[in-house]
Amino acid sequence: MNYIDWLDRKDLEYRDGNLYFANLNTLEIAKKFGTPIYVINEQKIRERYRELKDTLNLGYKRNKIYYAIKSNTNLSILKILVSEGSSLDCSSTGEIYTCLKSGVSPDRIIYTGNMFTNNDFKFAIDNNVLTNLDSYSQLIRLAKIYEKKGKDKSIISFRFNPEFGAGHHPHTITAGKEIKFGILENQMIKAYTKAKELGFKKFGIHQHIGSGIIDTKNYENPTEKFLTIIEKLSSQLGIQFEFVDFGGGLGIPYHPEQDPIDLNIYSEIVFTRFKEIVEKGEIGEPFLFIEPGRYISAESSIILTQINTIKDNGYKLFAGLDAGFNTLIRPTLYGSYHHIIVCNQRNKEKILKYDIVGPICESGDILGKERDLPELNEGDYLAILDAGAYGFTMSSSYNSRPRPAELLINDGNIFKIRNEETFDDLIRNQIVPDYLK
Ligand code: LLP
Repeated sequence: MNYIDWLDRKDLEYRDGNLYFANLNTLEIAKKFGTPIYVINEQKIRERYRELKDTLNLGYKRNKIYYAIKSNTNLSILKILVSEGSSLDCSSTGEIYTCLKSGVSPDRIIYTGNMFTNNDFKFAIDNNVLTNLDSYSQLIRLAKIYEKKGKDKSIISFRFNPEFGAGHHPHTITAGKEIKFGILENQMIKAYTKAKELGFKKFGIHQHIGSGIIDTKNYENPTEKFLTIIEKLSSQLGIQFEFVDFGGGLGIPYHPEQDPIDLNIYSEIVFTRFKEIVEKGEIGEPFLFIEPGRYISAESSIILTQINTIKDNGYKLFAGLDAGFNTLIRPTLYGSYHHIIVCNQRNKEKILKYDIVGPICESGDILGKERDLPELNEGDYLAILDAGAYGFTMSSSYNSRPRPAELLINDGNIFKIRNEETFDDLIRNQIVPDYLK
């Protein structure tokens, strides 16, 4: 894919040297609303959801997409996706609360947490939310809570750890013997047997192998293993599955040299054999679920940020921004690449190498290392791309820097969907004991 097309995929283009995002001039947005700021393109979220939905519909009709809200929890984003027909995947009770606040009904929420407390289970049961269990011991605790509440034990699901994981960074690989998630093969029969004994009548199954997977081949081994265990559970225990959840993980092209994932190949690897197995009629007529986060939200957003300092220390050029790892932690935490481009492209001829750094008091506050950019000046604006997934949700107020605002662009109109934090927000929950007053 050439560079212009790569930008176009993200609704970015230069018009007379000015960067436009979703048809709006980024310089005007930055000047009007201030920086740093997250800017989200509603159309892109809808587009990515529809691409996935079309792929699923072609692969296997009985399907549901559960958008993994951890990638972007803004209520407006949830409402956009719910209006598309999406269901929602949560990793905590706080996320369930957020989903319910968005107005979605509980039967469109799935709770794929880990290390659940009894209070987590109570919250899920009270709100009629389906949970994917992450250990055998949790089954016993969950059953007891159902019994105490006098509620019917209807459906149960376990997360399988297929021991083949993948991801853009070791921290985002979620399968393997050394990894905390899910139940290994040797405990699966025991888990479902016990669930039946305890009176659960309907069954689902789940796996999620990791996040930021750009090479679809990585899905081959875990899918094979997943399907094998599903067939085994059906043949040995007579289980008919209500749903089979293949998790999320689909990556996006953060770097201009990366091509987007081929959804047809993904579908071929993940769903074709699944469909064959279902057609054999031995595992029931399950719904197929997937739980994508990044694929839907990442490319929808940019961060607009202003350069306050250009420093030439004699060895290196630094461009110092008002956004730092408090705003976007992925480069610092995972060494992730986020493409950075100028909003006002004045001097295309003179290309210089910059370290793009933030204002946080740590040397690791680098958003882009050794980036070739047209000569930059103090006061210029930059756009950090693909910030819509795990951007705002992982931001912090470290160094007592209030979190930024979020804007939503819909059809050429701009809506503020989150206010920037204030200094008061920074100290809001603190309590000074009387003796210190
Ligand atoms: N389902 C489960 C059970 C998950 O744990 C995750 C992500 C997803 C779905 C969605 O994965 P996705 O489609 O977005 O790859 N903070 C890291 C990513 C951590 C993902 C954690 N789990 C990052 O910034 O790359």
